Amino acid sequence: MITLDFNNMLAPRLGGSRGIDPARLAELQARFADIHADVARRRESGELGFFELTDAGEVVAEIEKFAEHQGQVFKNIVVLGIGGSALGTIALKTALLNPFWNELDEEEREFFPRLYVLDNPDPGTFSAFLDRIDLASTLFNVISKSGGTAETMSQLLIVRAQLEARLGDAYRGHLLFTTDPEKGVLRKLAREEGIPALPVPANVGGRFSVLSAVGLLPAALVGIPIRELLEGAREMDDRCRSASLPTNPAAIFAVLQYLADTERSAPIHVMMPYSDRLRDVADWFRQLWAESLGKERTRDGAQVFAGPTPVKSLGATDQHSQVQLYIEGPFDKTITFLVEAGRSTDMEIPRLYPDIEELGYLGGHTLGELLQVEKEATEAALAERGRMNMTIQLDQVNARSIGGLFMLLQIATVYAGGLYGVDPLDQPGVELGKQLTYGIMGRAGFEKHREQWEARAARNDEWTV
Ligand code: PA5
Repeated sequence: MITLDFNNMLAPRLGGSRGIDPARLAELQARFADIHADVARRRESGELGFFELTDAGEVVAEIEKFAEHQGQVFKNIVVLGIGGSALGTIALKTALLNPFWNELDEEEREFFPRLYVLDNPDPGTFSAFLDRIDLASTLFNVISKSGGTAETMSQLLIVRAQLEARLGDAYRGHLLFTTDPEKGVLRKLAREEGIPALPVPANVGGRFSVLSAVGLLPAALVGIPIRELLEGAREMDDRCRSASLPTNPAAIFAVLQYLADTERSAPIHVMMPYSDRLRDVADWFRQLWAESLGKERTRDGAQVFAGPTPVKSLGATDQHSQVQLYIEGPFDKTITFLVEAGRSTDMEIPRLYPDIEELGYLGGHTLGELLQVEKEATEAALAERGRMNMTIQLDQVNARSIGGLFMLLQIATVYAGGLYGVDPLDQPGVELGKQLTYGIMGRAGFEKHREQWEARAARNDEWTV
């Protein structure tokens, strides 16, 4: 079960002068009903493909079959992808595998492979990784919806060359593409070179694709029960079908964050798990919220420069780094805590040094209790200082609850798009960056760019120290 406690977003809990007046929630009901109807219409027309993923029977069966045949053949699975093609898998890995999975021996991993996700094409990391890995026992899952992203394609070219040099024609058996069902260069290569490829449905965008083959295949390969992920997502979808704002958790989340940004001058949305396992869900959410809502124009074409700024944080680590700012700095933030109620692992703190006050009080408690108390203390301190915060609580972190959490935040993002009036599904800014990279990296473009670069560098000398 996932619950959303939003008491501390509301003015009565924050001393009256800060926070959101509960009356505003009632006033937004009619607006939300319109947004809800629009989402239902877009869903019906097939524009919001991520909703359909929970029923994707055939693809899931194909993924399971592939994972069953290939999973234990390889010792390493390496995902090459970036943005929406990587962040969901990283979140799944952190949430649902042993934190030191890749360091466990084969028996401890029940003969499932190690899992690596290499998103950034930094030559230092990438070359060090390729120097270390045994190519002959590695499957590279190259993930790109468009099949043309420069970072991922560069990695593919390097890996393809190294595989061929080492294994000859057998290189094909070490590649698996996840890409658009029809379009793009990866699909073309898959067809021409006989490389297996799984589909990312055309109506599912990168940051909404974690429950497609993008996230499900790597998850299945390392033994994560993918049907439970989908089951949890489906349950959350059912909970979020209500057109009544107070009973729809995704709607409440979206409306409160929207009001905080637009009416309470709080455009910074911090997500702060008090759980290492949920740390990368916050990173995944950061992309989802930023790319979906950060838009120059509304769906009607009006210029708005909309979008809150999502920030990831981690409790208790950031109590010693960021929380001072959250509690006493500007009133420009909301904090969303992510917590797990029942930890599958806890550790008792030994009762040593009972006579030393600074150590004795800890003995007999557990590390889980310490984190929980620290979260509650931070939450109370924030509320006392009039700082808006809310808590999303998972009964336990497991495939079902993680599927539910992904779905909750995806639906909330679509509702928030409706509130801001922007299209949460497109990313014209990202596309512009991709086009510029493409143009510049092309030979003629690169030479021209180098000249401009050098001229700019010369001009900049005056203002550089
Ligand atoms: O959400 C998005 O659409 C983007 O962040 C993409 O996931 C990212 O740019 C990678 O694109 P692709 O999967 O086409 O390589």
